[in-house]
Amino acid sequence: MNVYDSERMTDILAPVGYEPTDLPDEADLVILNTCHIREKAAEKVYSDLGRLRLIKERRTVGDGDTMMVAVAGCVAQAEGEEILKRAPYVDMVFGPQTYHRLPEMVARAHRQTGAVLDTDFPAESKFDHLPDPSAKGRTSAFLTVQEGCDKFCTFCVVPYTRGAEYSRPAAQILGDARGLADAGVREITLLGQNVNNYHGAAPDGGAAAEWSLGRLITELAAIDGLQRIRYTTSYPADVDDDLIAAHRDVPKLMPYLHLPVQSGSDRVLKAMNRRHSADDYRRLVGRLRAAQPNLALSSDFIVGFPGEDDRDFRETMALVEEIGFVGAYSFKYSPRPGTPAAAMEWQVDEAAKKERLAALQELLNRQQQAFNRACVGTSQPVLLDGPGRHRGQLLGRSPYMQAVHVSAPPTLIGTIAEVRIDAAHPNSLAASLPDNGVVDGRAIA
Ligand code: 5AD
Ligand code: SF4
Repeated sequence: MNVYDSERMTDILAPVGYEPTDLPDEADLVILNTCHIREKAAEKVYSDLGRLRLIKERRTVGDGDTMMVAVAGCVAQAEGEEILKRAPYVDMVFGPQTYHRLPEMVARAHRQTGAVLDTDFPAESKFDHLPDPSAKGRTSAFLTVQEGCDKFCTFCVVPYTRGAEYSRPAAQILGDARGLADAGVREITLLGQNVNNYHGAAPDGGAAAEWSLGRLITELAAIDGLQRIRYTTSYPADVDDDLIAAHRDVPKLMPYLHLPVQSGSDRVLKAMNRRHSADDYRRLVGRLRAAQPNLALSSDFIVGFPGEDDRDFRETMALVEEIGFVGAYSFKYSPRPGTPAAAMEWQVDEAAKKERLAALQELLNRQQQAFNRACVGTSQPVLLDGPGRHRGQLLGRSPYMQAVHVSAPPTLIGTIAEVRIDAAHPNSLAASLPDNGVVDGRAIA
């Protein structure tokens, strides 16, 4: 979602004359869009700011032009004033719900001597004020449909930094999706911290007052040009029948689901305030796989949550063995200020966290490699996103989010090619075009 937000910041700054650059040395404005989810991400902000300070000082002393520095995102939301104390050279601090005010904030920062601080949770939605998203020659794009979270897992800062759950009206999302498809986007990933609890206002004239995510996906699938739909990230207890049915009935919905479970121990899940047990998760996966037998799953895991003992951890390992994941993000528990878990007794020591994480990652990695190897010899539809590392190669994505290197001409960028998987490497697959030379209904030159 931070990637999406950064793109939208670029969109809203374009009309006032800013364009993106890869070089901080040349920038008139540097925005650090920050993450507060774990301590490591949050601390990185201050080391990056230290480097930007040097550039800013050099520029000011040199030819007198200036560089503005802004901190955006969830660290800005959570720490606000504190950032200005620790880094007084920062010009703007604003959270994830106010960046539609950026042009006005930039103007104010130029006018006034002090910094601009805007960490409101405004009544108005930023989506009502942002310009249409630009596609910029991309084949794949993110599209935020839901934001915020009311779940309050005891380890997590999101409900405090992103705020309460909010679903965008369906008409607005359909409009954005049509615009993206017209501009050449072939795949959209619907985003939300709790995306499957989407319940946005239905477009005028329909019978239902609200659409579920399943309904939204079904309607998006009717857009010509849009060939693939994904969504992330989901909360197990909120997967409903509509969504399961969409996995069965909507061919454009990719058979890949990121479904965070966090732990395989009921004791730990309870302490985490997750509203599902390990068996609930098993049953849910069973229903999803019954609806879509090709479904591949990925997940998030936390090891070393307060009170987690060896037995709890073994239950996590057992769940992973049993379900089988094709990808995963796993983390050592990181105590976050203001969250209930940070104040819990029985914090797990660092050595145990490290050991458990290594064991879990070894297992998850083994499963991922086995899945990649099982793909060798199969035929897969690959969306060709752009040039690959070597000449004559394109890089694309399989339905299962695997990176696939395909020997193919650049004219095929933006198409879905049915390719033969020839080899599995640690982080990617290698593939070639079919012998009959037909891709996406078109003959290859
Ligand atoms: N410590 C470690 N991991 C965390 N996550 C969220 N909060 C924490 C924390 N305090 C992980 C969860 C979540 C993912 C986005 O980040 O696994 O699903
Ligand atoms: Fe955080 Fe996800 Fe739990 Fe919400 S559901 S509190 S975003 S981990």
